[in-house]
Amino acid sequence: MKPFQIKNDIFWIGALHPDLRLFDIIMRTKNGTTYNSYLIRDEKIAIIDTVKEKFAHQYISHIKELVDPGKIEYIIAQHTEPDHTGSLSSLLEIAPNAQIVCAKVAVKYVENTINREAGIIPVENNSTLSLGTRTLRFLSTPFLHWPDTMMTYSESDEILFPCDVFASHFCDSRMFDDTIARDFRPDFRQYFEVILRPYKRHLRNALKKIEPLTIKTIAPSHGPILRKNIADYINCYKAWAAVKAENKPKRMLIYYASAHGNTEKMANKIAEGARSVGLEVELFDACTIHPEDHLERIENADALVFGSPTINNDVVKPIWDILTSLATIDIKGKVGASFGSVGWSGEAVQFLDDRLAAMKVKVPVKGLNAVLVPSEEELAECYTFGQNVAKAVAMDVKE
Ligand code: FEO
Repeated sequence: MKPFQIKNDIFWIGALHPDLRLFDIIMRTKNGTTYNSYLIRDEKIAIIDTVKEKFAHQYISHIKELVDPGKIEYIIAQHTEPDHTGSLSSLLEIAPNAQIVCAKVAVKYVENTINREAGIIPVENNSTLSLGTRTLRFLSTPFLHWPDTMMTYSESDEILFPCDVFASHFCDSRMFDDTIARDFRPDFRQYFEVILRPYKRHLRNALKKIEPLTIKTIAPSHGPILRKNIADYINCYKAWAAVKAENKPKRMLIYYASAHGNTEKMANKIAEGARSVGLEVELFDACTIHPEDHLERIENADALVFGSPTINNDVVKPIWDILTSLATIDIKGKVGASFGSVGWSGEAVQFLDDRLAAMKVKVPVKGLNAVLVPSEEELAECYTFGQNVAKAVAMDVKE
């Protein structure tokens, strides 16, 4: 697709990737995506982000259609994930005079991406860059979606380049929200859910930074450029990133898998113990659920307790499946615990404790094993274990 003007000598020069079906290994993209890069043709020429490496050839052609690449002065790298820096090296080949503008924390990522000498200008929150008739302002918005992310704002154009925020994996060559043929709002929401949801706290900070800006156009890193009812998009993000109301009473979720009913007996007793000190507890057999249906519930819970027998020296797959599904939600600072029925080796509970700690979940009570069929004494231990985890939740103030 050819480059096109968005407004006032600001051009889209990106790439369409309609047949992409999996992004970043984790996200299904049934409507493909676009890699949006923008060129600003002012007294000085600047480019915002590049495109995935496989599209470098056509990308360079786009640029040559608009400007003499030797005159490009700035390449603004808002985020160094390769879908936006994949063509940076190719661009530097034809734009040897360009300096790379990026967040301070991104300098090392840029260096490790291009693996060559280049001028790099690190910028901070509210740093400005004059292109002649317009001045760009940079907003530090870390963790949206890498630590390096920043946004760019042009006040005279009333346009915000928010990188991955307000993006969608949705490919339509008409490119504007008010000209594309299909409803892309589910994709807009899905992008938030999968890519940005773990960073709600950082999103809230970023939304405060853009609050005072007059924005008529949002030009994100993927998908449609937004220019219709801008406030609606911003309000969606405000609602999705908002702090949820405190759970009262505190809630514990217990996910267990049980081959012969022994781990299940432990789960029931742990639940009893936790309820005895006032926690609301829900139990789920991990073999009967789909983890993706539980993400919202898990994100809103205060305690996550996982039970697995040890089979072939490992935690069983349905429990691992839940744990590996949690990368897209924020569980840092919750209370976690582990338990399971063991036969002879019994590694599963320690693996679970270690995994929870690695996910920055607090593990205040060491995981609990019971040997084969839990005895009355072991079930009493389970009851006390449930109480102790629940008490840790009651005392805990989540970060
Ligand atoms: Fe589209 Fe986080 O890169």
